[in-house]
Amino acid sequence: MVARGRPTPQPNDTERPAFKDRAPEDYANPQANPFVVSHRTFGRPLLPASDAWTFRGKWPEEFGREAPLWLEIGCGNGFFLKDVAVRHPEVNLLGIEIRYKRTVLCARKLKEAGVETARIARYHAAYLDDLFVEGALDRLFVNHPDPWPKERHEKNRLISRWFLEDVVRYLKPGGVFQLKSDFPPNVERVEALLDHDGEGNDAPRLPLEITGYSDNIARDGAPWPDDVMTNYQKKMGIRGKRVLGIELKRLETPSS
Ligand SMILES: C[S@@+](CC[C@H](N)C(=O)[O-])C[C@H]1O[C@@H](n2cnc3c(N)ncnc32)[C@H](O)[C@@H]1O
Repeated sequence: MVARGRPTPQPNDTERPAFKDRAPEDYANPQANPFVVSHRTFGRPLLPASDAWTFRGKWPEEFGREAPLWLEIGCGNGFFLKDVAVRHPEVNLLGIEIRYKRTVLCARKLKEAGVETARIARYHAAYLDDLFVEGALDRLFVNHPDPWPKERHEKNRLISRWFLEDVVRYLKPGGVFQLKSDFPPNVERVEALLDHDGEGNDAPRLPLEITGYSDNIARDGAPWPDDVMTNYQKKMGIRGKRVLGIELKRLETPSS
């Protein structure tokens, strides 16, 4: 059976960060990828992992103001992150991306656009607990997460029960999660994962309400206003592949 759990356990409060960032000297040949070094020396708006986790619970200090906090996971080359930042200067916008080179490409775009209200951090999506206290986020975007289409790789997919539990944990009540993907199962199974564990078992209902759904954004438009096109979304459109989208709102939990 495929194990669909989080890749590693989350830390407890005395052991952070849980994400083990690798320093250049940890690589046998650090020159093989020049971005391993250069992403650390780029400066703002790029936060290497070793800086990013220190802002847990204190993001307004890093942004220099109190404002709603929006997060994009897996920003790729940063087209979406930059465009959202330009359209929404009223929010503090953070992107996280695992690949060194892509963090630099994102940071360059933000810098060239003169954006001061966004940051890109090198971080792994399974370790949001390093970065955020509960209810820290007002909005969360995931665009075209790596599909891992083969069944034996299903455990690598981000869209899973543990990830939706994280969405509940880190979104404020009333906060919004928007997901787009060209891999239909990533969007189609979200509804089932609200009360199943993804392995055929019932699970407690998550306090998320589906507020928008489209199985073809190019045909019907996105199920939310003011959709910002991502690089992959554009590529899929050119290839004639449909892109699906789903929006969920974080509900108040009965006990809160
Ligand atoms: C298919 S690309 C989509 C890029 C972009 N969101 C878009 O729509 O054009 C997926 C991106 O997620 C990043 N990614 C994959 N796993 C990740 C993880 N665990 N944490 C953060 N980013 C991740 C990849 O490096 C890649 O840039």
